[in-house]
Amino acid sequence: MPVTVVVGGQWGDEGKGKITDILAADADLVIRYQGGSNAGHTVVVANEEFKLHLIPSGILHKDCTCLMGGGTVIDPLVLAEEIENLQARGHSCENLRVSYTAHVVMPYHKHIEKLAEEARGRDSIGTTLRGIGPAYADKARRLPRPVRFRDLGNAQQLRKLIADQLSEKNIIIQHKYGQPPLSAEQVFEEIWPAAQKVSAYAIDGQRLVQDALRREQRILFEGAQGTFLDIDCGTYPFVTSSHPVAAGACLGTGLGPTAIDEVIMVCKAYTTRVGAGVLPTEIAGEQGQFLCARGQEYGTTTGRPRRCGWLDGVVARTAAMLNGATYLAITKLDVLDELATIPVCVGYEIDGIMLDTMPSWPDDLEKVKPIYEELPGWQQPLGQIKARDDLPTAAQAYVEKMEELAAVPVKLISVGPSREQTIIIQ
Ligand code: IMP
Repeated sequence: MPVTVVVGGQWGDEGKGKITDILAADADLVIRYQGGSNAGHTVVVANEEFKLHLIPSGILHKDCTCLMGGGTVIDPLVLAEEIENLQARGHSCENLRVSYTAHVVMPYHKHIEKLAEEARGRDSIGTTLRGIGPAYADKARRLPRPVRFRDLGNAQQLRKLIADQLSEKNIIIQHKYGQPPLSAEQVFEEIWPAAQKVSAYAIDGQRLVQDALRREQRILFEGAQGTFLDIDCGTYPFVTSSHPVAAGACLGTGLGPTAIDEVIMVCKAYTTRVGAGVLPTEIAGEQGQFLCARGQEYGTTTGRPRRCGWLDGVVARTAAMLNGATYLAITKLDVLDELATIPVCVGYEIDGIMLDTMPSWPDDLEKVKPIYEELPGWQQPLGQIKARDDLPTAAQAYVEKMEELAAVPVKLISVGPSREQTIIIQ
């Protein structure tokens, strides 16, 4: 594993945290390259569950350095709490680093996002309300200069940047949303204790990555969200504001594209989505509720129930191409254990034309009709199986179908939440 990217092949919540944690055992450096506390990565170690929002899932391996790259957006209040929680459970976080250049999610980002989503009513995006979109919007706007991670250690600079931001944002808060203006001093006081704590982790992240490359260290990039939540490649406008696709690892850290050796695309054995936007294989009624309950499909960050759908082979194939995937990691195969037959979408029909990749225009995607093949279920528990060849025949056929649809060979199969419930294909 010289330089590997772990990426979500669907709409997020594929189980990337668990896969990253397993691969991190062999990594020198684990890097989050985009997103912020909108992510929720669950890792289970020796029956202990860790829910991480910002800190890379490699943090539980003490010998592995964990970096949050310049492409991430960081809420200092969430980061400080996450560090404290890990420390209280015996993980020092001494191996954590945060790039100077990462942008900071401030209280006014969360406030404005809440006002905007509420004002949109039924037409809202259904964001996580973690201030992600407004923070990236400020980054793209450039001036007034937003707060970046290195600024958190400098009270005078931080006060000035907050005042500059609020001189504009308060106009929107007051005149667009009819709400009282925010006080720059109160915002400063709200974040200053956390800012002092987390600024101790600030470093030149780009240099850390370049040094690691020069020393031929094993580097693992941990994607958050998923391919179809990517702002350019996803189902726009119902997407996040960053680049979850593998190319985002380059943008978010200063890595050249030719440095990437492997892209492991994580796909759940079925499909889920949180928030608004198209989900072609969505299952209505009881069967959808069954998958949601059996797969514990409730958001790690917001607790919202996820919408569930059958496996979508068009999504898998398109995602594999968008990411240049070299391997597939299949997760939650065991969630399908009880089903007698399992529908799998093998193509889309749109106006009488068959498609095997996704149309990129959202209105076209709304019109697609999934074409299903019924695969037999295995109706026995997979949780204790350790080798691909020991899977029941029907489960082997299901895995082969996923490989065929994505056109990528499988490397890992997860059959339960713990590290041990993972089949690794050599
Ligand atoms: P935002 O990232 O909070 O702006 O939300 C934009 C869209 O991405 C919404 O539909 C969210 O539900 C979705 N989203 C953001 N983060 C995640 C995630 O980690 N898993 C699944 N969906 C996510």
